[in-house]
Amino acid sequence: MAESWVIMVTAQTPTNIAVIKYWGKRDEKLILPVNDSISVTLDPVHLCTTTTVAVSPSFAQDRMWLNGKEISLSGGRYQNCLREIRARACDVEDKERGIKISKKDWEKLHVHIASYNNFPTAAGLASSAAGFACLVFALAKLMNAKEDNSELSAIARQGSGSACRSLFGGFVKWKMGKVEDGSDSLAVQVVDEKHWDDLVIIIAVVSSRQKETSSTTGMRETVETSLLLQHRAKEIVPKRIIQMEEAIKNRDFASFAHLTCADSNQFHAVCLDTCPPIFYMNDTSHRIISCVEKWNRSVGTPQVAYTFDAGPNAVLIAHNRKAAAQLLQKLLFYFPPNSDTELNSYVLGDKSILKDAG
Ligand code: ADP
Ligand code: DP6
Ligand code: CO
Repeated sequence: MAESWVIMVTAQTPTNIAVIKYWGKRDEKLILPVNDSISVTLDPVHLCTTTTVAVSPSFAQDRMWLNGKEISLSGGRYQNCLREIRARACDVEDKERGIKISKKDWEKLHVHIASYNNFPTAAGLASSAAGFACLVFALAKLMNAKEDNSELSAIARQGSGSACRSLFGGFVKWKMGKVEDGSDSLAVQVVDEKHWDDLVIIIAVVSSRQKETSSTTGMRETVETSLLLQHRAKEIVPKRIIQMEEAIKNRDFASFAHLTCADSNQFHAVCLDTCPPIFYMNDTSHRIISCVEKWNRSVGTPQVAYTFDAGPNAVLIAHNRKAAAQLLQKLLFYFPPNSDTELNSYVLGDKSILKDAG
């Protein structure tokens, strides 16, 4: 092998927002959850990760830059993803440049990774989901791994649980799985991005500051201390998963909105039931909830569903464009620009709303 070449692959992956939440692991190392979850994959333009992975014989070690700053790859999560993809690497040939990498070469070659999120990192908008899905997808392309997206999802899961759901567009289910080695804990598509394309998602950024308690730490403390989590995982979520799949398949917005809001609220209740309690939402988040609840009740049928991940930022899912326009008007009225509660919004609309991660 000549010493001078570099091979690069760039991938782009959108984030996903859970409508039935994952919160709690039964196995920390393999990242196996205590319940199934369902999410919607977002528009690949507005909230996405772009990752470039490069390999060269001149690289002395694996290195990674996140949003322009070098980060350590020593954490188990990055190592898990690198190890699993390396184990599946195949021969790669660039005939034009006369470069040949055999399966065995990959054990010795090092990679450099540069990743950018075009939205706030670690602020409760699932940067870890887009980030690890994109990393695994890009590495698999670079190393010519032949695994399909579900198999790749089980690897992305070992980087960050929610990442397994970003390997597909549309609505996606992460099946918790049963076996100890985690091989059946992976993502499957429920419906594709065209199935329900009149939904419009508005993300109201209440704060882009990094959260105080990371999802990983938060859910560990919840598993250790919350009795409510046990009840949620065993009794509530299994029923909700069935109902949510039905609602999505039938495009039944009333059921969808009811389940989405209830599950977000229960997730935050479980955070409050943690000792010491974890507060991800703030006053502005609570005001957004009240505003949507009041509006939905006054109309009689839900127009908008809200859901909050591990942070104060609202993900608002409007039934259609008309509801989205009305919602934006309300948000501007109640949270005016240049005020303390000004919101930065991403509007994910049109037919492009849900696109494939590939
Ligand atoms: P979020 O709500 O944004 O997902 P988490 O606490 O779950 O917050 O995860 C944030 C962590 O995910 C970051 O500190 C970083 O370690 C990792 N992460 C975020 N973006 C990327 C990325 N593009 N590539 C790799 N890892 C990422
Ligand atoms: C509230 O996937 O970020 O967004 O697996 O420890 O990396 P780790 O946690 P992460 O947790 C996401 C929690 C959530 C709900 C969800 O996305 O299902
Ligand atoms: Co996360």
